[in-house]
Amino acid sequence: MKLAIIGTGYVGLITGACFAEFGYQTVCIDKDEIRVNDLNNSKCPFYEPGIDNLLHKHLHKTKLLSFSSSLSQSVNDADIIFITVGTPTKRIENEADLSYVWNAAEEISNNINKYCIVVTKSTVPVGTTREIKNIISKKINEKNFDVVSNPEFLREGSAINDFMRPDRVIIGCENKKSEDIMKELYRPLYLIETPIISTTIESSEVIKYASNSFLATKISFINQVADLCEKVGADVQDVAKGMGIDKRIGNKFLHAGPGYGGSCFPKDVKAFISTAEKNDINFSILTAADKFNEERIIKITNNIISKANLAKGSQVSLLGLSFKPNTDDIRDSTSLKIAKLLQNKGITIKSYDPEAMDNAKKENIELILCSNAYEACEDTKVIIIGTEWNEFRALDFLKIKSANRNRVIFDLRNIYNAKELRDIGFQYFGTGT
Ligand SMILES: NC(=O)c1ccc[n+]([C@@H]2O[C@H](COP(=O)([O-])OP(=O)(O)OC[C@H]3O[C@@H](n4cnc5c(N)ncnc54)[C@H](O)[C@@H]3O)[C@@H](O)[C@H]2O)c1
Repeated sequence: MKLAIIGTGYVGLITGACFAEFGYQTVCIDKDEIRVNDLNNSKCPFYEPGIDNLLHKHLHKTKLLSFSSSLSQSVNDADIIFITVGTPTKRIENEADLSYVWNAAEEISNNINKYCIVVTKSTVPVGTTREIKNIISKKINEKNFDVVSNPEFLREGSAINDFMRPDRVIIGCENKKSEDIMKELYRPLYLIETPIISTTIESSEVIKYASNSFLATKISFINQVADLCEKVGADVQDVAKGMGIDKRIGNKFLHAGPGYGGSCFPKDVKAFISTAEKNDINFSILTAADKFNEERIIKITNNIISKANLAKGSQVSLLGLSFKPNTDDIRDSTSLKIAKLLQNKGITIKSYDPEAMDNAKKENIELILCSNAYEACEDTKVIIIGTEWNEFRALDFLKIKSANRNRVIFDLRNIYNAKELRDIGFQYFGTGT
């Protein structure tokens, strides 16, 4: 089976490299020629643990993987074509911007000349995959292609493992032929007994948005519980532990913090609300979760400013810029939002992130970027833990204490033991504790 993947972002590149690892001849296509050149030289455009090895192995040893900037030369030979382009939020409305998807569909329609399956792996609102079918069928007889929805659930930072050992694979299709081909594609996962769920195209598209929206709501829920805990003298970490041990609830996505960010949750929640509105459904639960999340970052920043007595000209330390650990992705990062709000008040930010500083430099935020966490913590009024990178968990706070007279910590991710830090002289503020 020959595969073509359109888009070499976090999803497209991982998908391509992992399908090559499964043994499929795979070509990944991107409009960005610099990116394609870098990839052909085994240079990954982003940080993701394990991807360099897979790239090297399948570009040079097995030669199962290749990269191209020419869609026309790459898709006509493919049995399955995956669309993995971005679906960001539109600038004015909250709905998903599908322009990249429509462009990809147009280009596919101009370039296929034998039966193939066109798969939406991008996160797309219900109805999109059928619209792709309409676009392609203007040029190609419907007997000569099928469309399938196969949403992706990988998480940046553990993307390869998530792709190779998923909790489930969702296949939304409209006939047995395409369903059988997709099941054959995922046969390597049968060995590890991965549930493969076949459903309609519409259900598949909704499953993806409903899953992300549910997890985002869970985060807003525990964050609101955290606010209550702070008022009543409870500890949200104990509360989450006590709740999460109940199998009906589960302990995942029950960590109080600065709110959800990243390239998926904020945009997917907004797009799902927008889809509901278009269908006369008032998705009030999700709207509340979204609103709470947006306001939370302002509330947290104001709280830091007032508790640490920050004013114009104050200097703070911000550890972590990526939206979560083990990625350099800063899209909708809560750390950067805090940085922006602080900067608007004339506060200077010294920061360090193990992987995301190059991306942060491209943003419109003035940061003093340091070469390590200790340097970033020197001589500031407050230390903010924005992202829970492992290397921040074991910092030597006696060393930090000697270089920071103020000794105030806002641990937005609850990674430290409050008592230990207070015992050595820090003023410690956790989240929901
Ligand atoms: N990032 C994640 O963790 C994640 C997880 C699951 C699902 N998703 C979904 O997957 C989709 C892709 O996300 P991403 O983070 O990989 O996006 P991304 O922005 O990192 O990458 C998209 C890539 O597609 C390329 N592209 C756009 N139009 C093209 C075209 N016509 N031809 C060739 N290349 C084209 C762009 O140049 C870019 O490199 C989104 O819908 C997203 O919601 C993302």
